[in-house]
Amino acid sequence: MIEIYKNPSYSSKERTMDLLNRMTIEEKIGQMCQVDGRIDSKTWIFEKHIGSFLHVTGEEVIRLQKLAAETRLGIPILFGIDAIHGHAFHSGATVFPSQLAMASSWNTELLEEVARITAVEVIQTGMHWTFSPVICIGRDMRWGRVDETFGEDPYLIGVLAGAMIKGYQGKNLSDPYSILACAKHFAGYGETQGGRDSAEADVSERKLRSIFFPPFKEAVKAGCTTFMAGYNAIDGIPCSANGWLLTEVLKKEWGFEGFVVSDWNNVGWLHTTQKVAATLEEACHMAVTAGNDMIMSTPEFFEKTVALVKEGLLAESLIDDACSRILELKFKLGLFDDKRLPNFTESNSLIGCDNHKKAAYETALQSMVLLKNDNEILPLSDKVKKIALIGPNCDDVQSQLGDWSFGTREFPERPTLDYHSEYDVTPIVTVLEGMKKRGGNDVEILYEKGCGLFDDEGETINKAIECAEEADVIIAVVGDTNTLNGETRDRVSLDFTGYQLHLLKALKKTGKPLVVVLINGKPLTVPWIKENADAILEAWNPGMEGGNAVASILFGDYNPCGKLTISFPRHVGQQPVFYNKLPGWHGDSYVEMTDEPLFSFGFGLSYASYQYSNMKIVSSKLVMTDELVVTVDVENIGKYDGVEIVQLYVNDVYSSVTTPLKELKSFKRVHLKAGEAKSVEIKIPVTSLNLVNRHNQTVVEPGTFEVMVGGSSRDGDLLKATIEVMDK
Ligand code: BGC
Repeated sequence: MIEIYKNPSYSSKERTMDLLNRMTIEEKIGQMCQVDGRIDSKTWIFEKHIGSFLHVTGEEVIRLQKLAAETRLGIPILFGIDAIHGHAFHSGATVFPSQLAMASSWNTELLEEVARITAVEVIQTGMHWTFSPVICIGRDMRWGRVDETFGEDPYLIGVLAGAMIKGYQGKNLSDPYSILACAKHFAGYGETQGGRDSAEADVSERKLRSIFFPPFKEAVKAGCTTFMAGYNAIDGIPCSANGWLLTEVLKKEWGFEGFVVSDWNNVGWLHTTQKVAATLEEACHMAVTAGNDMIMSTPEFFEKTVALVKEGLLAESLIDDACSRILELKFKLGLFDDKRLPNFTESNSLIGCDNHKKAAYETALQSMVLLKNDNEILPLSDKVKKIALIGPNCDDVQSQLGDWSFGTREFPERPTLDYHSEYDVTPIVTVLEGMKKRGGNDVEILYEKGCGLFDDEGETINKAIECAEEADVIIAVVGDTNTLNGETRDRVSLDFTGYQLHLLKALKKTGKPLVVVLINGKPLTVPWIKENADAILEAWNPGMEGGNAVASILFGDYNPCGKLTISFPRHVGQQPVFYNKLPGWHGDSYVEMTDEPLFSFGFGLSYASYQYSNMKIVSSKLVMTDELVVTVDVENIGKYDGVEIVQLYVNDVYSSVTTPLKELKSFKRVHLKAGEAKSVEIKIPVTSLNLVNRHNQTVVEPGTFEVMVGGSSRDGDLLKATIEVMDK
């Protein structure tokens, strides 16, 4: 028989069908398995016909791919890795700011470039698939994984995720620098009660369709080739066992043609943790019938599923569907024709190269958000000759890089990524290094750690005070670190840990100007610094170039323009607090404090100031097929050139179901020179003014809508007008 599957002149579909027809049931089920490549890989390749390994690095990729070529059908292995803000587990690779940080840039082109660079570096190491982007909604800061999200707004998440997917996957997968993206974790994963990671998410179908589905649907539209099911359960059904979610909605309703991967051992946990399956066999059966195509890290899946099919308990057609979805992507990636083996010589010139580092620096600059700047204390004036740089995050590589990079993922249940010991930290520029470099011979940097991030390290505060007393200005670099973020790291408090607040209060007492730089995975409850610091720069986990970027902003080489994509609570008791809330709360406030966040969604200062005026709606009576066109004049009335992020919100005034007080519908990044004014036009289709009605249908209800334009989601920052939407 002619081996069509080996012949690139046939289509991926034809080659997939040909190959599928040649495969035994064991070979098909093997393709559906993904395990950690450091475990018994030879048995997996030759006896279990494995389809994919994750978390393999270095030369081992070449060895495993070559072994796979020796198997009966020679099906190449798909290698996956969590390269979620750069290929950050690989020593020497470019580490970008965390996803939450990057989101503050509101810059789709930048995020596409970040993903493109990541793809290029991932490819150099023989891998083909990143488990990114995270499309979860970050509404409860207690949740350990908020740093992995793009923030709290479904529209913005969809737009930013789409950009990253484009960057990873390129124009098409046959481009040798394209990798598979993965939209995760489908769905409602960030909405678990009390911020408890992977627990139950109490969301109705209407809420899923209104808030949680739209950004995932955008991912399908952007051509995302893989989806990962969430660990969480919705209404008692774990996502991995939810056929309505994975098959009815994702594959049938939205026409998703790629494959679904279950999360790490979630199929095992259906039995051992979530206990919806009395045996592992039952769990495997559930997972396949629900629509999971690849099973991550449940090694028992292979034997159990082979037995289920052989005993006639599971239809082979389901296996065929899953297996062909996986094979087709392997064909599309061109893996059957070119194994894309790593080229470690070439990789040396691309991985972490100067151009990529430049992009990491630019991304860090655009990711930072200026939260306070009293009396224009920033940028630092030429008169500043001595800076006291103080705090536990001045020189902490791990806090700066954040989760899913060197030094993380070390928790029970998972093998440690052992190449950490070989990780080269020399290219990482901490704030201390960045400030020293930028200060040069003109500005002296006096450094004292002052205290650690945890209780047992408070003894050096006095030295920090002495140092502060000698200086013209204090820059305190505080926040959190990796052990306070990530999976299994949910929190009950969002306050500064250890002696950090004591340190800040003691520094304040010196009477010297106090600038606080936050290096943290996610918003913390920091009302004291809002009251007492002279300036606050939110730097998040700014990645390998973070120190240079902080220095550039503090010294005024760069005018910050980031805006928050997530609200900062005043107190953990406010959680969740987000801007697109529903109306109807009696009193609209707690007994002890307002419901207003400390810093709101969309907020961020600049060294410039922008004035909005003259908002106009081009036509305020619209039908469903129209576009809403809004214009507004924005003027830079400050002394610095800058970029303003102009935001458009809408409220459906009366509707058949409660709808948010405002929802972001569009935005524009506008460059404005000092003194320059521009008329900014934003257009959105009337169809985007939709809601999900009580029958779970997405519709636009005719009536009055309030349209708001401005520089943040706060009422005081918005100009308003109304429009009428009519049926015809
Ligand atoms: C996480 C996923 C990740 C996977 C592989 C899981 O525990 O939830 O986001 O992609 O591990 O590392």
